[in-house]
Amino acid sequence: MNLSNYILQHIDPEDKILKELSRETNLKKLMPRMLSGHLQGKILEFLSKMIKPENILEIGTFTGYSTICLAKGLTENGKIYTIEINDEHEEIINKYLQKANISEKVKLIIGDANDFIDNFDFNFDLVFIDGDKRQYLEYYKKILQKVKIGGYILADNVLWDGKVVEELQKSDEYTKGILEFNNFAANDLRVEKVILPVRDGITIIRKISD
Ligand SMILES: C[S@@+](CC[C@H](N)C(=O)[O-])C[C@H]1O[C@@H](n2cnc3c(N)ncnc32)[C@H](O)[C@@H]1O
Repeated sequence: MNLSNYILQHIDPEDKILKELSRETNLKKLMPRMLSGHLQGKILEFLSKMIKPENILEIGTFTGYSTICLAKGLTENGKIYTIEINDEHEEIINKYLQKANISEKVKLIIGDANDFIDNFDFNFDLVFIDGDKRQYLEYYKKILQKVKIGGYILADNVLWDGKVVEELQKSDEYTKGILEFNNFAANDLRVEKVILPVRDGITIIRKISD
């Protein structure tokens, strides 16, 4: 048995609905690997339960797996706003939000996150950045203004399959985007940060000043 399997056998099992969502995503969607999955999903759920957010913003819903995990930590009247640019995912997202019985807690926005972030007239307790890797820094700069002091940002895929420590290929805009974001966050004195080397790397960022 490898360590990954050992870990999965010694944490809480994946919820039935999330397992079903994962199976349907694998059957019907291109790049099903984008879905958070059992281990990362549990970590998102736990972080959200520790933070107990009143409101969450998610950039990049895909089929809704991480949305369902993050929503588990919301306060009783809490809401998660999740933005997905690809309207082809809308049907499966809504199907599983209903199955998970959380449709009322979720506001799904179909469109480009860059067009919506500035429009929120309140601040978030927790933000999950998991959209286009080339735009991470653009999202971050806008989002930080919409996070409460003491609030958190989680950024996924920050190790980008190890490419962050390899020689950068000229045409690789994705790695470039992740590197720009990582360097900016590392030097940003308005926040505290740590990288969890789980799956593809998650940076946990805590805002300490404006
Ligand atoms: C890695 S997947 C998200 C996976 C999902 N968070 C999960 O863990 O199951 C990235 C998603 O971001 C979406 N996306 C890319 N650029 C975006 C943008 N500018 N605004 C909103 N969504 C975007 C893509 O269509 C894709 O579905």
